[in-house]
Amino acid sequence: MENLMSKQILILAGDGIGPEIVKAAEQVLTRVNEKFNLGLTWEQGLLGGAAIDAHGSPYPEVTSEQAKKADAILLGAVGGPQWDNIERSIRPERGLLKLRSELNLFANLRPAILYPQLADASSLKPEIVAGLDILIVRELTGGIYFGQPRGIRELENGEKQGYNTDVYSESEIKRIAKVAFEMASLRGGKVCSVDKANVLEVTELWKQTVTALKEEHYPNINLSHMYVDNAAMQLVRAPKQFDVIVTGNLFGDILSDEAAMLTGSIGMLPSASLDENGKGMYEPCHGSAPDIAGQNIANPLATILSVAMMLRYTFRAEEAAKAIEDAVGNVLDQGLRTTDIMSEGMQKVGTVEMGQAVVAALN
Ligand code: IPM
Ligand code: MG
Repeated sequence: MENLMSKQILILAGDGIGPEIVKAAEQVLTRVNEKFNLGLTWEQGLLGGAAIDAHGSPYPEVTSEQAKKADAILLGAVGGPQWDNIERSIRPERGLLKLRSELNLFANLRPAILYPQLADASSLKPEIVAGLDILIVRELTGGIYFGQPRGIRELENGEKQGYNTDVYSESEIKRIAKVAFEMASLRGGKVCSVDKANVLEVTELWKQTVTALKEEHYPNINLSHMYVDNAAMQLVRAPKQFDVIVTGNLFGDILSDEAAMLTGSIGMLPSASLDENGKGMYEPCHGSAPDIAGQNIANPLATILSVAMMLRYTFRAEEAAKAIEDAVGNVLDQGLRTTDIMSEGMQKVGTVEMGQAVVAALN
């Protein structure tokens, strides 16, 4: 079975700090591929601003073909000020959304884990965040991000009006809730479903559907519900009350940035976006950070940890995934820090040096 599996990766470095962090992650990938004899091969492609510059589209046909045939995708980040003023439908972000949607990558897993070595980097008191380990399961191909109708129209009185539509069907809700329940059963067994069911019908249906699925198939999961405004507050008040959080596309976008910051730096957090068969795109939770691009100061660890998630979820190479995570722990133990996680007494290193240190720790 194992050797019948194709193992092709598409690497999309993207924009801003994307190329630098992906390069560091690629070196780690090269090393684990040799060390664990994984038989992975990969090629590079263009997405976002880089693709606009080369092909006039943020997700050109050639990238789409590459993405469809790959088993997994490693993405850096997309976007930057040079593409801010181009027509809305071909902005870099639209390329990312199209890719997620075309490949049906509906399940976005965003872990927020506090490394004990970085407890000082959080803006919250250590006792509030020590040992934090939350998994946000965000629905990624539906909701208001994709709902029709959408646009900016002109009213009869000449005033402009912008509009979007938040939609979720039962099947979309069920498949993401299922992912959350399955994930929770491998961890703390608790799921908190986040909605705004007191105001929005779409999330009223969300709540009912999640509840029904639990009652039918997951009797042992401890399911709770929370309004999104309260969830945002609880995340900074007492974040350790959460195990798995499941929510829609927009709420998940916002709450995952908030959760990331609890851990001190968004520069540490990987993510996975999976389809129904385990094919996935893996990317750091942070963006393209154009302000620090090209300066060798970006933290490559989120991208390196995204490689670990790829090995775990798409290629089922748990041992190799664990080795990367341990190597990251090891470099933090050595006191190596990029600027974003720097604290007193530690040794400041650049993107390249951090990547090399992880490779060395793998040896
Ligand atoms: C994210 C990002 C994207 C999103 C942007 C870049 C379109 O913020 O992955 O969280 O909103 O989904
Ligand atoms: Mg976001």
